[in-house]
Amino acid sequence: MLRMSKSEVRWAVNIAKWKPCGVDWAKALSLIQENEQERICRFTFKRDAKASLVGRLMLHKLIRETLKIPNEVIHFERTEKGKPFLPKLALPFHFNVSHQGAYTVVAASSSTELLGVDVMRIDVERFEEEAKLQDFFYTMRRQFTGREWTNIRNGDRKEQLKNFYRHWCLKESYVKAVGVGIGMNLLSLDFNVSQPLTGIVTSTLLEINGKLEDSWKFEEQLLDEEHCVCVALKSGNSVPQPFQLVQLDDLLLPCTELPSHNQWAADFEAKEEEPQIWR
Ligand SMILES: CC(C)(COP(=O)(O)OP(=O)(O)OC[C@H]1O[C@@H](n2cnc3c(N)ncnc32)[C@H](O)[C@@H]1OP(=O)(O)O)[C@@H](O)C(=O)NCCC(=O)NCCS
Repeated sequence: MLRMSKSEVRWAVNIAKWKPCGVDWAKALSLIQENEQERICRFTFKRDAKASLVGRLMLHKLIRETLKIPNEVIHFERTEKGKPFLPKLALPFHFNVSHQGAYTVVAASSSTELLGVDVMRIDVERFEEEAKLQDFFYTMRRQFTGREWTNIRNGDRKEQLKNFYRHWCLKESYVKAVGVGIGMNLLSLDFNVSQPLTGIVTSTLLEINGKLEDSWKFEEQLLDEEHCVCVALKSGNSVPQPFQLVQLDDLLLPCTELPSHNQWAADFEAKEEEPQIWR
């Protein structure tokens, strides 16, 4: 029978400084299951491939350490909408991944019915001009309720952006917990934020179509000044956790070189880091 050594996990890996050479990339890639290797190799840009691979490596570490399953037999499946899960698991264990900006994060819990996580970069540089911020808010006007916009538009430009991404994380963490994807009507979700984002905030409430959803809890926090993260949890008695910074080396395992490595190494080295437009 599977036993769990640690049932609550909040991990973050800062991938901004990870610049693997082709060979190191290929070794890391060989630690995950084959269909995911192929998916990750299809990314155009290194940035996206690295973020997704680190998410996978974090999930492997999570399952190795909590469920004591050897790396080579860990095999995830995805729901129709793309949410990864571990099949044939007799015990309740929920996990989710998110990657954005400098971070890839994983949250997991054995004491909840559903779990979703979302990390967002508070992109201040992109909105240095007030007009750009207002245009952005205008294009997003249908994603947030009147109450949410009042809370978002509270404070100076920097504060408003922080409020915006905080609300975005709240919505996405819920959407990811239920696993339906971003296609859902985000206006039906109405978050009532009552505390500033310092430490771990758990007081935010969710109403759906005017009804308080008191079985849901939201753990909001900042990873640093530029990144906010939220974990959505349904029911259960999980204790709020700070995110722990995990080093990339802690995700890797010793491995022997395979013939496929040469191709993976060359393909990776040929990719651009990120789209020109963001430079
Ligand atoms: C899920 C979704 C909201 C993720 O949004 P995002 O902000 O781009 O991405 P994040 O970085 O927060 O999360 C990505 C991770 O969430 C997980 N994920 C993917 N689909 C998910 C879903 N439906 N629910 C929860 N988690 C999901 C994956 O681990 C993914 O990382 P990976 O692809 O590298 O393994 C978005 O991809 C979406 O709307 N998907 C649904 C698509 C859909 O409806 N497809 C139907 C078939 S056409």
